[in-house]
Amino acid sequence: MGDKKDIKTLLKTYNQEHIVKFLENLDGTKKDILEKQIEKIDFDQLSELYENTKKEIEIKENKIEAIKYLDKDKLGYNEKNRYDKIGEEIIKNGKYAVVTMAGGQGTRLGHEGPKGTFKLDVYGKGKYIFEILTENLKEANKKYNTIIPWYIMTSKENHEATKEFLEKNNYFGYDKDNVILFMQSELPLLDLEGKLLMGKDMKIKEASDGNGGVFSSLRSSGALADMKERGIKWVFIGGVDNVLAKLADTTLIGVTIDQGLQLGSKSVVKANPHERVGVFCKMNGHPKVIEYSELPEKMAEEIDADGELKFGESNILCHLFSIEAVEKTSKEVLIYHTAVKKNSYINEKGKEIIPKEANTYKFEAFIFDAFDLFDNMAVLRVKREEEFAPVKNKEGADSPKTAKELYEKFWQKRKATV
Ligand code: UTP
Repeated sequence: MGDKKDIKTLLKTYNQEHIVKFLENLDGTKKDILEKQIEKIDFDQLSELYENTKKEIEIKENKIEAIKYLDKDKLGYNEKNRYDKIGEEIIKNGKYAVVTMAGGQGTRLGHEGPKGTFKLDVYGKGKYIFEILTENLKEANKKYNTIIPWYIMTSKENHEATKEFLEKNNYFGYDKDNVILFMQSELPLLDLEGKLLMGKDMKIKEASDGNGGVFSSLRSSGALADMKERGIKWVFIGGVDNVLAKLADTTLIGVTIDQGLQLGSKSVVKANPHERVGVFCKMNGHPKVIEYSELPEKMAEEIDADGELKFGESNILCHLFSIEAVEKTSKEVLIYHTAVKKNSYINEKGKEIIPKEANTYKFEAFIFDAFDLFDNMAVLRVKREEEFAPVKNKEGADSPKTAKELYEKFWQKRKATV
């Protein structure tokens, strides 16, 4: 494939001849880099993804059922103890790892730099999000007399900045040998006509391929092999932006193992039947997170025998996978969802175009699409005010302001009860 003629033919075959012109105007290293990048692109996959953007979404006759869940707050003392003991054994014996997915672009927050480097204005002095997550893990390490390996997924875009930040802050006192950064994969962006876009750096524009990329990236980066070498049996996978996330929850581990399952996840109860969040359910016999837009209104309002919403367990991106489940999923191709986003590019005259309207398709896999590969999963309902304070938007709901309030309130209460 290193043959230049082949590259041109390839580009022409896939209707990307505009890139040939860029190639012809480049020389030296820049040309080499671009050629190497083109060689790595899976053009068949890309064509298929583009074709999918034009297809009507198939409305299948789906069988949607409620999924069983346990409410952490309503577990009896002995029952909770039993679960916690199971979880404790896993953590204490070095069989537990945490993955933080930090490869997102954080466009809604608008912070310059990776989201984990955002400083939340708590207690006057402020704390970085990565610092808060580290504190949570360090507390668990102390409690269970271990060091939990912490894997952080970055993107090509933010890898260096993340690494530099953690180094500069001495990993907030975490044992450096147990912090493993791995990069997630990317996919090229396409314009609305299916053409590749050229960036200012004379490389084809690519973007991280969604948090569902975590499994294949764990595998291709060697992080999964590293986990297996360390004897890890259970892997918690969560987002970077929940400052109240409990990264080492023995109850979640215990419940999942006790039910003989390979997957577990936490939920918080929906604020109201029409809250715009994804909820856990079973679809066609498999666990799923169904988007609010896909859940028929009548179902969204349905009440069960206990007077609770039948579809009320919303997803907070706190998932537990057995190592076998991670391995299995890493070999599967998850479906890609399409988002239409604004992206600047260089036109054929070499001029940078900054679009006013969304002009590109971005392809993203979602972690919860992996649930479909399994027959069942454990769902553990937790209290929103104790475990969910996301930093998503610049202002309003799920913003630094709401996260700060929730964080400070939680810790105030906790200090008062200890
Ligand atoms: P979000 O869907 O909230 O996306 O990601 P985001 O990139 O952080 O923010 P916006 O939508 O651009 O404002 C949920 C979690 O998944 C991670 C994010 O870092 C976050 O922890 N993620 C998302 C990845 O690791 N990789 C991706 O490609 C996308």
